[in-house]
Amino acid sequence: MDILIGPALAASVNPCEAQPVQLNLKRPMSLTNLASIDDLRLRARKRLPKFAFDFIDGGADDELNLRKNRTAFDAVELVPRYLTDITNRSMKTRLFGDEYTVPFGVAPVGFMNSAWPGADLMLAKLAGNKHFPYVISTASSTAIEPLTEAANGYAWFQLYYPCNANVYGGLIERAKAAGIKVMMLTVDVSSPGKRDRDIRNQLTVPFKLTPRVLSDLVTHPRWCWETARHGSPDLANILPYVDDGSRSLATMQAELISSSVSWETLQRIRDDWPGKLLIKGILHPDDATRALAAGCDGIVVSNHGGRQISFGPASISALPDIAKVAGDSPVLLDSGIRRGADIVRAKALGATMVLAGRAFAYGAGAAGEAGVGKAYEILHTELDRAVGQIGCTQFEAVDGSFLR
Ligand SMILES: Cc1cc2nc3c(=O)[nH]c(=O)nc-3n(C[C@H](O)[C@H](O)[C@H](O)COP(=O)(O)O)c2cc1C
Repeated sequence: MDILIGPALAASVNPCEAQPVQLNLKRPMSLTNLASIDDLRLRARKRLPKFAFDFIDGGADDELNLRKNRTAFDAVELVPRYLTDITNRSMKTRLFGDEYTVPFGVAPVGFMNSAWPGADLMLAKLAGNKHFPYVISTASSTAIEPLTEAANGYAWFQLYYPCNANVYGGLIERAKAAGIKVMMLTVDVSSPGKRDRDIRNQLTVPFKLTPRVLSDLVTHPRWCWETARHGSPDLANILPYVDDGSRSLATMQAELISSSVSWETLQRIRDDWPGKLLIKGILHPDDATRALAAGCDGIVVSNHGGRQISFGPASISALPDIAKVAGDSPVLLDSGIRRGADIVRAKALGATMVLAGRAFAYGAGAAGEAGVGKAYEILHTELDRAVGQIGCTQFEAVDGSFLR
């Protein structure tokens, strides 16, 4: 789970008071010179306060896993087969009987609105319009209900198993009532990751306006202004259960994640959840085997984007062994997706679909609603091109025979 700023922000930061700045809020932003997810990242780095950018961008400890997620992808080589008519291509993918336009979705990202105010809703709408999955985080900045409505049937829900039974029961019931069909239990956070950047940036819960943070805010008036206008990122799904009136994020965080999640917990969740159940954060094939035996409908191979540990495998390196034991059960993958070709690499190594977290957060940080659309467009066009380049017309036909 990823904690950023408390409700103090909107109330306590008035960027206009802090430094009178003339804002041109209507100026349209050109995105035509942004070619890649890395370009979106660089634009986001300029537009966001350092603590907000680092919160999204950073990884655990010395960020070894963060880097490894990329180098491991780069090492996967696909060998093109030419002399095939690739004029008509389809990136469509089926999962659990539903059809998606593309084989990628938005990974659950807590406090997504720290990337840009309203980012959660922008992404849910995008998924609804383009027909691909959007995974609502337990720690989303906007509540399950409006996000599910905006996603128009394309929302899934990610569950952190909370300490408090009322919160657990409440979240499950709300997800059911909202019409969610796919739930994903995240299991890699029992012992939270240590992110050094957040410590250096003095990111605390509740948020404190230290001189360092204040100077960061006043040099990013646009983000500050929009955040003050929309309200700072909150734990919208947990708020209804915090009855001490303080709305302190520390209190809410304590409600949010239990460190006692076990195989018995999984069995209980399986019994309580009637829809499809995925388990996210699996890196060992034996855990995958056991989760499937316990009734999970699929596995999400993930190292949480390198945010939890720095000494484990890249997700893409762990994928082949897990795909082998999963047999016909779907295996999804996240962590390190930055190029359309990465999605093809993951498919060749056994993934059914992938999820991307930061790619969409960078899009939001780079240009708000237009930026999340740009992130989708970049991944989609790169994917379509890469599938064609290896000599394939259907994404679903990509398999291990393309691997070198
Ligand atoms: C800012 C941030 C917040 C995240 N919050 C959550 C969360 O609330 N729940 C969860 O299961 N994973 C969370 N993740 C992990 C993502 O779901 C996903 O595993 C990861 O972002 C994939 O790596 P990528 O960013 O390289 O695509 C978060 C990731 C980021 C970057």
